Amino acid sequence: MTDTTVDRARDRAATHGTTEHGSAAHLRPVAHFAARDTWLNDPNGLVLHDGTWHLFFQNNPEGGTHGNLSWGHATSTDLVTWTEQPVALRHTATEEFFSGSAVVDDRNTAGFAGPGQTALVAIYTSAYRPAHPTLAGRQAQSLAYSLDDGRTWTRYEGNPVLDRASANFRDPKVFWYDDVAGPGYWVMLAVEAVDRQVVLYRSDDLKQWDHLSTFGPAHATGGVWECPDLFRLPVRGTDRTRWVMIVSLNPGGVAGGSGAQYFVGDFDGTTFTPDRPGDGPQGADWLDHGRDYYAPVSFNGVPDGRRVTVGWASNWDYANDTPTAPWRSTMSLPRELGLVRTPDGRDRVVQRPVLPQEDREGLVVHELEIPAEGGRRHEIVLHGEGPDAVVLTVDAAARTLTSDRRGSGDVGFHPGFPSVDTAPLHDVGTTVDLTVVVDGCVLEVYACAGLTTLTQIVFPSAPLTQVTVREVAAA
Ligand code: FRU
Repeated sequence: MTDTTVDRARDRAATHGTTEHGSAAHLRPVAHFAARDTWLNDPNGLVLHDGTWHLFFQNNPEGGTHGNLSWGHATSTDLVTWTEQPVALRHTATEEFFSGSAVVDDRNTAGFAGPGQTALVAIYTSAYRPAHPTLAGRQAQSLAYSLDDGRTWTRYEGNPVLDRASANFRDPKVFWYDDVAGPGYWVMLAVEAVDRQVVLYRSDDLKQWDHLSTFGPAHATGGVWECPDLFRLPVRGTDRTRWVMIVSLNPGGVAGGSGAQYFVGDFDGTTFTPDRPGDGPQGADWLDHGRDYYAPVSFNGVPDGRRVTVGWASNWDYANDTPTAPWRSTMSLPRELGLVRTPDGRDRVVQRPVLPQEDREGLVVHELEIPAEGGRRHEIVLHGEGPDAVVLTVDAAARTLTSDRRGSGDVGFHPGFPSVDTAPLHDVGTTVDLTVVVDGCVLEVYACAGLTTLTQIVFPSAPLTQVTVREVAAA
């Protein structure tokens, strides 16, 4: 199995020449969303409406670093071809628009729609600037609505609709809860970020909110809690359904810096109860084990129990320093989520990327079966015409997947960037299946039918189009 392609590629690199970092076209992904020429962070307001997927996002419309927070907007009909739209909610002298969600108010509960109209309602965090006359420094939840399918937005005059006089109350996720006799109601999750708590509220009209319960701190608590989500998923091959809560935290993520944990449990319309409440940080389950998967949340409005998430492919440790310009940061691929019971008796999330149906220049997808019997160990080297490479290692004895990006190209822009990251493999048979997606500066690895994922950004001097698999001595 030993192959020397990698070494040859490294030799050729001497003649490759240098690429000017920051503007190299090959770093821009072709299926992952990036803003045209500005900064982005968290996905916001994910909603499917009339066949159009709306991806709003934390955006600085005036620059390439985090600031002037506004909601940018992109649309798609297939989740992998995005058209950037005009900024939906632009920051003002007194208010920034932090993360939140959007719903289709088809029952017109908020009364924003006229006859024959349907309102899209965005529930976002008003982060009040020092210039605000009465609310400076606070974070509270507010509404805006669109009566033209998301093209233009009007802020509700009664904002904020939910104010706890807190400086760290943010990231509302709202969904319609109808697992009850009766008409159902809106549920909002938001965080008290510094307290590491998810606070749950209910409403009939999106305007008046009543407290339901508070969850946390629990499991991974090493940083502020941000961007919660909660939804129901069937457990594959059973007639059971469970509730999954997502909580991002920064720092304190599994690979260092920003990360996203999830809890499997029950939600009775008031309280979320995790299966394993007392497990502490070691008991945390992670949606991704790379350094670059943060703030994932799911789309509202998707039929047939399908649950699709998008995360932000970066890490607050170095997000403002990554070497691309004028755009900076990308989203992850959208992922379809499921639940499976693993051999250790736990219900765990599995993820599958949404990929383009057609071949796309610049996007490489490797489907690999790595031999695992007898505790074998393999390196999967992702490389190209340049000197740079990412080395993945599948260690069947240790049941781990490791990613080493120390030699992946430009790693010097921040001391926290070069890294070796390790993920557990929960279900190792005679082989380990890997799907490796390389798209510009984003690399996503899905192992064991999506039970383990590992997302990394990299800045090689030439595209990492090749793969070489070689067996190495067991550790
Ligand atoms: C998460 C986050 C959110 C906040 C937003 C501000 O990355 O810090 O908590 O709403 O980014 O841009």
